[in-house]
Amino acid sequence: MSAIDQAEIEILADPEALARRVAEWLVASMAASTGRFSVALSGGSTPRRLYHLLAQPPCRDRVPWERVHWFWGDERFVPRDHADSNFAMVRDALLADTPVPPAAVHPMPTGGASPEEAAAAYERELQAWYGGAVLLADRPLFDVSLLGLGPDGHVASLFPGSPVLDERVRWVRAVSETPIAPFVPRITLTYPALDSSREAAFLVAGREKRAILSRLLAGDDLPSARLRPAGRLRFFLDRAAVPERLR
Ligand code: 6PG
Repeated sequence: MSAIDQAEIEILADPEALARRVAEWLVASMAASTGRFSVALSGGSTPRRLYHLLAQPPCRDRVPWERVHWFWGDERFVPRDHADSNFAMVRDALLADTPVPPAAVHPMPTGGASPEEAAAAYERELQAWYGGAVLLADRPLFDVSLLGLGPDGHVASLFPGSPVLDERVRWVRAVSETPIAPFVPRITLTYPALDSSREAAFLVAGREKRAILSRLLAGDDLPSARLRPAGRLRFFLDRAAVPERLR
């Protein structure tokens, strides 16, 4: 049985209801934890409203900012103030006006010489955070991984046909072939790192995602279908993205 078959699916009325539900779920997960809490953030457009909600009351007043650490699931290899930067999107939507300690923000480095060097540097940062270079099944790297579903079934920057899909050792890899806009090199977490999550949640909204979501839920071999999180996998979907048969 695939992870998809065992996933918990919630269908929300619209993107706003989806963002509010995920914000409620995420803050409750943080509140139920003790000590450090790590989130691997998704880029793209779907999670932006969620990030805005986390930065505003009531969520803002409930997030334990002093002990939450923010990581990225993938990044476009562009400057941090570039319009395509996932860091810039999160900074503007979530981090700019909140009491997040600067040391709790762990962006993927994109100012260096190459995506490969950036990937290696981020892997070192993750291993320093984790306290080791071997991921243990009973000690996930992330408390929560937030994930998007690309129109071709990609997740993070794990694209169909990419050799990075077969990476089972490195935690972070550079991606040179990017079939989806923006057509820039990427840095992405690999399956070992993404799977090392206590909770993983796809956020999928919009009628334009209905076809690829149908394929994912039908068991097609898409990059997003290959996730095997250590913990629970959830789908937060808005009605427009859900195939008729699942409504
Ligand atoms: C990115 C994302 C990517 C995204 C999907 C869905 O860097 O673009 O990490 O994996 O989550 O492409 O993007 P939308 O939310 O914009 O549909």
